[in-house]
Amino acid sequence: MEFHKIKSLRGEIMVPGDKSISHRAIMLGSLAEGTTEVTNFLQGADCLSTIDCFRKLGIEIENDGKTIRIHGKGLDGLKEPSAILDAGNSGTTTRLISGILAAQNFETTLTGDESIQKRPMKRIIDPLSMMGADIQSIKGNGCAPLKIKGAPLHAIDYVSPVASAQVKSAVLLAGLYADGKTSVTEPYVSRNHTELMLKFFGGEVSTEGTTATVSPRPKLEARKVIVPGDISSAAYFIAAGLLVPDSEILIKNVGINPTRDGIIKVCRQMGANISLENIDHSGSEVTADILVRTSELEGTVIEGEIIPTLIDEIPIIAILACFANGRTVIRDAAELKVKESNRIDVMVKNLSLMNAKIAGTDDGMIIDGGHPLTGTVIDSNLDHRIAMSFAIAGLLSEGTTKITGSECVNISYPDFYKDLDSLMCR
Ligand code: S3P
Repeated sequence: MEFHKIKSLRGEIMVPGDKSISHRAIMLGSLAEGTTEVTNFLQGADCLSTIDCFRKLGIEIENDGKTIRIHGKGLDGLKEPSAILDAGNSGTTTRLISGILAAQNFETTLTGDESIQKRPMKRIIDPLSMMGADIQSIKGNGCAPLKIKGAPLHAIDYVSPVASAQVKSAVLLAGLYADGKTSVTEPYVSRNHTELMLKFFGGEVSTEGTTATVSPRPKLEARKVIVPGDISSAAYFIAAGLLVPDSEILIKNVGINPTRDGIIKVCRQMGANISLENIDHSGSEVTADILVRTSELEGTVIEGEIIPTLIDEIPIIAILACFANGRTVIRDAAELKVKESNRIDVMVKNLSLMNAKIAGTDDGMIIDGGHPLTGTVIDSNLDHRIAMSFAIAGLLSEGTTKITGSECVNISYPDFYKDLDSLMCR
């Protein structure tokens, strides 16, 4: 895919359903009793991997391309799969399903693509082993493929060294099967979709500070889940609307859960003209329409507890920083190194090729904005968030920006290029 400078972006857009919430709807729908209906489900490759895994575990899941119907069989309704479970590129599938498999009375092998087989799984192997499960990294490198032998689980109070919703959720899901209340304490609060959805399905969850606690053996009941638009997908249009001259974009029905809205806070901190309209608190997740207009931005410092609330948006924030006045410093974001690609290295390498003034650090990056970018060939490293970030950079750069492996947007946003094109005024 190739991108060139454009005059402006104008119009209205609906981004697809939230990836994190779509995964959880399949998982909790499978563990609930009765038929759960999911609308605005994200039909991206990652969430389809979750559907595939639960089908292999004996759950009937209908997908007509719009609505999903999950015929849940209750907490004890999963059956031993006859094949290896394949999570594809999805860290959320791999880590969350491990929490559920840790409690089953059968053994499962779980794997994924090349990227997944390099991502750290020790972070879930450790707490799930403490609960009594037998989980082995088959290659002995702490990564998938994993062999998971379920067992009756003990409740634990786990203090996680990382602020990771995937780790927290794996332990809380295992906690549904434990012999008492299970809690997870994190250094900072990570996204809380598992907690909210568990409550919505009838589970008992409490939170205090950075600790979330789940009670065992709830009776989960089928629900109708309406998935809000994904703020992580909206982030590309927020950035594009702010940076491309003479632009105005309305992004409808986006989830603005406070554990996910760091991108909005940071943009405002940088001086962005963003307004939230039609804020709706009626469901378990808050939604709003986001209106962005071209704005003059200033560099900023991003660190500490805000990091988990914008962790997936840091690649596009790095693009914003290139066009802001002055310096932007991102710290406390070492987790970027273990995402679908090493996002510190990949951003520094690609932005340097475009002539940006950027330096990588151990836990983030430093960007001096205000230096024009030049188009070149960008290797997406098959990381969807890298491909989408550089598509936006391409709209602001001199010459041609060519992205290799650009089809990887299928992971979280299959229609991304089409939706972007629909806003372009040439
Ligand atoms: C996710 C949590 C985050 C995020 C990922 C989705 C989730 O990962 O980066 O894209 O759905 O729980 P970590 O929890 O590992 O930080």
